[in-house]
Amino acid sequence: PSSAEPESDATDGVTAGALPAVPRLSVIVPTFNERGNVERMLVGIDGALKGVPYEVIFVDDDSPDGTADTVRQIGERDPRVRCIRRIGRRGLAGACIEGMLAAQAPLVAVIDGDLQHDVNVLRTMLDRSPDADLVVASRYVDGGSADGLNRRRGAMSRTATGMARRILGIKTSDPMSGCFLIRRALVERLAPALSPNGFKILLDIMTASKEPMRVVEVPMAFAARDEGDSKLDSRTMLDFVTLLIFKVSGGTISPRFVWFSAVGGAGLVLHLLMLKGGLLVGLGFAVAQSIATIGAMTSNFAMNNVFTYRDRRVSGLAMLPALLKFYLICGAGAVANVGVASWVFEGGWRWWLAGVAGSVIGAVWNFAMTSLFVWGPS
Ligand code: GDD
Ligand code: MN
Repeated sequence: PSSAEPESDATDGVTAGALPAVPRLSVIVPTFNERGNVERMLVGIDGALKGVPYEVIFVDDDSPDGTADTVRQIGERDPRVRCIRRIGRRGLAGACIEGMLAAQAPLVAVIDGDLQHDVNVLRTMLDRSPDADLVVASRYVDGGSADGLNRRRGAMSRTATGMARRILGIKTSDPMSGCFLIRRALVERLAPALSPNGFKILLDIMTASKEPMRVVEVPMAFAARDEGDSKLDSRTMLDFVTLLIFKVSGGTISPRFVWFSAVGGAGLVLHLLMLKGGLLVGLGFAVAQSIATIGAMTSNFAMNNVFTYRDRRVSGLAMLPALLKFYLICGAGAVANVGVASWVFEGGWRWWLAGVAGSVIGAVWNFAMTSLFVWGPS
């Protein structure tokens, strides 16, 4: 071995100068299918941060397009670049949190990996960091713009921003921004209270902090995307509403519970429609109620799997045992359901009241047991 190479356990011979500088800034780039943007991102970041020791951490949710491999290949040449690859998990907020917690530098910045955020904002944010705990790159201050959003998205963004500011009392002009810089120590303190679901990481950070934060805003132009596709969909908007409910209720009504209730509500409507239909075609009450119960049960399984437990969704062949377990658990609930409903109906109450009473008994049982045995404990 050449004399420049250190022994594995020897530190002499290694000069500090031979090691890469300790980063002052860690740049976190969440990615999902952004292979075509990785190289351009890194060139842009390097240009924006001339003279600043930095590292870049991509957090990739096992993108099918091989984003993680592309990052790793670059990391072989440039040790400042690395990739956290997550398997079996999806979510922008969670990816940002994991990236920030893995950072080495005292300051961390989060920026989209699709070049819609102007990378030069990294420099602007860093320049403002000495007098701030959090620097927000805002599209809604002088010099910023949201031109990259289409009409529908622009309207969605403004509505959500208005709601966040009014309902949660957030002062920032752009709590939905996906680009910001923050002290790592602060993230570390807040992390246990942050929710990994959804897109709204900045909003979450700003409402999680009990102590006042020094927040500074810098303008950012949000550009149109020219490579790849946006992953933000209407579900994102619904996630935002559940996050609002969670925050407004002081953390008691969990997003999952909101989803479960919504699915239950939809199932109940379906149930009543089927019950009424059964009665209309002349079925006996218990028979109609049984059919309505099985129908609602099946639809509840499907909807909970897609919405409530999206992050733990069962798919493919695993759906069969899950569905069977669901039926088994709900079977017991259904017996109680039909029993209670028939009893109420025979007591002279209206058909729909009887249907509701039976369904409520079934729903409570379903939630408790299926959250334990079908989708696993949270
Ligand atoms: N790891 C990971 N996991 N990354 C993700 C995921 C995910 O599930 N979903 C999206 N990303 C990455 C994308 O690859 C991209 O780099 C970045 O997060 C932003 O995602 P986009 O899909 O491009 O979002 P957008 O452009 O529609 O939304 C932007 O504007 C919103 C406000 O209007 C983003 O900046 C959002 O953060 C912002 O809230
Ligand atoms: Mn984007």
